[in-house]
Amino acid sequence: MAHHQNIVFMTLVVFGIVLSGLIYLVYTSTSHRYKQPRFCHKIKKEDQENSLLHLQSPYGLSYKQPSVVSPDGKVVPVAPWLAPVVWEGTFDPTLIDSIYKQQNITIATTVFALGKYTLFLKDFLESAEQNYFVGFRVHYYVFTDHPEHVPAVKLSEEHHLTVLTVPSSNRWQDISLSRMARLEKLIESRLFNEADYVFSLDVDSKFYGRWGVETLGRLVGAIHPGYYQTPREQFPYERRPESQAFIPSAEGDYYYGGAVIGGLVKDVHEVAKTCREQLDIDASKSVEAAWQEESHLNKYFLYNKPSKLLSPEYLWQDFKPHTNEVKIIRYSQVIKNYAAVRPNK
Ligand SMILES: *[C@@H]1O[C@H](CO)[C@@H](O)[C@H](O)[C@H]1NC(C)=O
Repeated sequence: MAHHQNIVFMTLVVFGIVLSGLIYLVYTSTSHRYKQPRFCHKIKKEDQENSLLHLQSPYGLSYKQPSVVSPDGKVVPVAPWLAPVVWEGTFDPTLIDSIYKQQNITIATTVFALGKYTLFLKDFLESAEQNYFVGFRVHYYVFTDHPEHVPAVKLSEEHHLTVLTVPSSNRWQDISLSRMARLEKLIESRLFNEADYVFSLDVDSKFYGRWGVETLGRLVGAIHPGYYQTPREQFPYERRPESQAFIPSAEGDYYYGGAVIGGLVKDVHEVAKTCREQLDIDASKSVEAAWQEESHLNKYFLYNKPSKLLSPEYLWQDFKPHTNEVKIIRYSQVIKNYAAVRPNK
């Protein structure tokens, strides 16, 4: 009897050892399987997400021109690739501010104030302090050849300003052409470390209304106020195939203003780098696109769609009469006497 019980006991012990061994094996192999592939999967997924985020479209694709205002006069709040177009009424300022308040973000803002363009800095900065990312950390980077003409404007607590001295140019076209290269270099030398988002803005402008976190996105362009109801064949795109900025007459979404380029630092770097390279190729062939960097920006945005678009509320011109669809003017180019501020015609 005792002998029989021993056999049963030993069988149970052996069975127990085998079972716990199995459990251990299964446990370690699942935890191993859990960790390892999850790591691989994560990397793959990120790569995929990164490329999915890039809204590249092929050359020569034929589709209808998107409209900004529908036939019944209502504004269109979304582009045909499902990027929001920011208009008054499409966002709740209190809600969107409190969402972004939880993120510790810095918005770098570059302006180019060369030659007499330093005249515009005072109004630009003073009006920005009233309207531009109020309550968020902003770092202005002012490029100028006359640092002594940068006005002392009182900045709010979280707003900072750095003056970057650059050599003078004799042609405004050259000033315009060198902006992309300067932006590219500044991003590489500082902004990758110092900011989350960057906007490159024209200085000959003023803020009249809120410009806040509703404008933040991966890649942001502003619809030019002069062409938002123009058939694309009439956009002032570069139409000569010998320029890198060439766009065929049957293509185009919107005409974007060169006065505003924004987005994540990494994505704006890509814009600046690509446009600078295209500008260099044109320069080597003595070709200058119709509207210099603006033409190259339009080409970039046509094939690399912005993830967010700013309606003409965010880029107006003071001389333009008010229209029904634009309820609020937030940022607008001031009326200027070109002869008085440009070094040449
Ligand atoms: C927020 O960002 C600033 C500037 O990048 C940094 O100095 C500060 O330590 C950050 N604060 C927190 C709570 O992360």
